[in-house]
Amino acid sequence: METQTTYEKIGGEATVAKLCARFYELMNTVPQFQGIRAMHKDDLSESRDKLFMFLSGWMGGPDLFVEKFGHPRLRGRHAPFAIGESERDQWVACMVLAMEDVGIDEESREKLVKNFFQTADFMRNKQG
Ligand code: HEM
Repeated sequence: METQTTYEKIGGEATVAKLCARFYELMNTVPQFQGIRAMHKDDLSESRDKLFMFLSGWMGGPDLFVEKFGHPRLRGRHAPFAIGESERDQWVACMVLAMEDVGIDEESREKLVKNFFQTADFMRNKQG
């Protein structure tokens, strides 16, 4: 049924939590993502928890981030970090691997990667 949200389709809270944990684990260990890893704090747990809260609402589940922090203003929140095509592509590539690793179905992955790319592209604030 078309009324099912992506959040429900991929397995709800448990899958979104696993996805965020895997995303930052990969960012922390895969050399290809060192550029964006270096922008983050040593401890990635706060980033992981915030991404979890954000993605929950973004995928059609409970809007946890907005309930706790208000409007995400994602572009503004990323303004302190220099984000170009390379950083965007690292972020999306890291998320693609994380989605595969946690076993998200192919149809949902295809849909999500398009939306992730658009959101990541919107965060760009420098040339190149
Ligand atoms: C385009 C490449 C991106 C880079 C390089 C990037 C990098 C970062 C960095 C460095 C932080 C700060 C983490 C900290 O406080 O230690 C952050 C926060 C965050 N990012 Fe990204 N990000 C990117 C794309 C995205 C995308 C596509 C999303 C959502 C789909 C996203 C969601 C978030 C959220 C929810 C936060 C927490 C905001 C807050 O502090 O309230 N980011 N990001």
